[in-house]
Amino acid sequence: MNELLLTGDERDRAGARLLALLDSYERGLPKAEILPEPDRDVLASLLAAPMPERGVGVDALFDRWEDTILPNSTAVAHPRFLAYVLGPPNGIAPYAEAVAAALNQNCNFWQLSPAASVVERSVLEWLASVVGFPAQAKGILTGGGSLATLQALATALNDRVPDFHANGLQRASAPLVVYTSVEAHRSVDKAAAILGIGLDNVRHIATDSVHRMDVGALRAAIEEDRADGLRPWCVVATCGTVSTGSVDPLDDIADLCAAEDLWLHVDGAYGALFLLSEEMRGLMGGCARADSITLDPHKLLYASLEAGCLLVRDGAKLRDAHAFDSSYLTVAEDPLMTDYMDYGPQLSRNFKAFKVWSALQAFGVSAFREANVRTLGLARRLGEGIEATPGLTLLAPVTLTAVCFAVDGASDDDHTALLERLAAENVALLGPVVVAGRRGIRACVTNHRTSEADIDLVLEWLQSRLTGRR
Ligand SMILES: Cc1ncc(COP(=O)(O)O)c(C=O)c1O
Repeated sequence: MNELLLTGDERDRAGARLLALLDSYERGLPKAEILPEPDRDVLASLLAAPMPERGVGVDALFDRWEDTILPNSTAVAHPRFLAYVLGPPNGIAPYAEAVAAALNQNCNFWQLSPAASVVERSVLEWLASVVGFPAQAKGILTGGGSLATLQALATALNDRVPDFHANGLQRASAPLVVYTSVEAHRSVDKAAAILGIGLDNVRHIATDSVHRMDVGALRAAIEEDRADGLRPWCVVATCGTVSTGSVDPLDDIADLCAAEDLWLHVDGAYGALFLLSEEMRGLMGGCARADSITLDPHKLLYASLEAGCLLVRDGAKLRDAHAFDSSYLTVAEDPLMTDYMDYGPQLSRNFKAFKVWSALQAFGVSAFREANVRTLGLARRLGEGIEATPGLTLLAPVTLTAVCFAVDGASDDDHTALLERLAAENVALLGPVVVAGRRGIRACVTNHRTSEADIDLVLEWLQSRLTGRR
């Protein structure tokens, strides 16, 4: 007998309990508490309880999940979960995750994962076509947008610093400088710090009146750094800033990068997959001119966590930065299947592409396009409702699905209290924001489950609070 396997009866039981759990979770979502108050005693007991010497078995384990884990988990799939940029998983995700765990393909080299390698390649080639990258582009699925940007900057270093793998930055003649905007995600700073660029060499360029990188200021900063003997190296533009959803002027920035011979990375973790919708192509078409781009299938493709993506226009550069020889991992290259260990820092890798590919197969690209169109429309509806409400002020134009607003005359504490009340009354979970120094509230409709009725409920609640205040 093998203690680590389930018997036939236990498999039946586990299957039935799993189906029942998923079904009741799905049915319960609309009425679920979005942000349940964590039961600290239960959580502390999870920590204090010693690992059992003898296992509790299938039924008791499911009971434990239902009693301790589920009630203390945030309902990110609730239709009025409108905080951060966190999409609820699409409907096929739990099933695809289960099959991926059963297959447990190691997506490092192709003999350990032949079908997985082709599935990842097919997802990456499709994503590259959405962005408008050329055929020689290559990429890799990552643990998220932050890791994709880290890998992008590592690739840019390897491309621009002679003998980077041998010397690192130790022999660089002058400090390298990376430019991004004051609205950029902190993952850009993190990547620069981790890679040894140093935060003092990250320029946070001012933005214009609608929170897009000011290209004149970028040009001036590059000139000043060159005059000071520094080495401008890379620009990280943002397609969909985390606070307001603004899109940097990508074409102008690409022109400047070409003239100055700088690597252009686009952080499209939040916004670039809006390229699926026709109406966004004009605004974001410049993504196609980047040297590399971050995308996040765990946002707008509603893949379950984690699924980020890096694409590099000249795929050979991604490989040059990450391929290392070793005597124990010699794999003959195959024209069909890719060895993803040569495209990223990981050796053992899970089969992230499966859930992304499965959702595209199950629902079709049009379903994701329609979800984009719907969420963009819902954000506009919320923005218009806020503009039409005396006492509320929109803090930024609604470019994508982020809606930032403030209550006139409210202090920071008032805004915090409002957010807490919205959550406590289970109306919605929204988040805080600071726009051009002004604190307020941010709703982000990156949620395929949100309906017009949900948006109207939030608006009506806000309006009734304002009337109550007067
Ligand atoms: C613009 C932007 N960049 C990067 C990230 C980080 O992505 P991840 O959480 O997948 O690491 C986010 C997350 O919201 C984002 O909005």
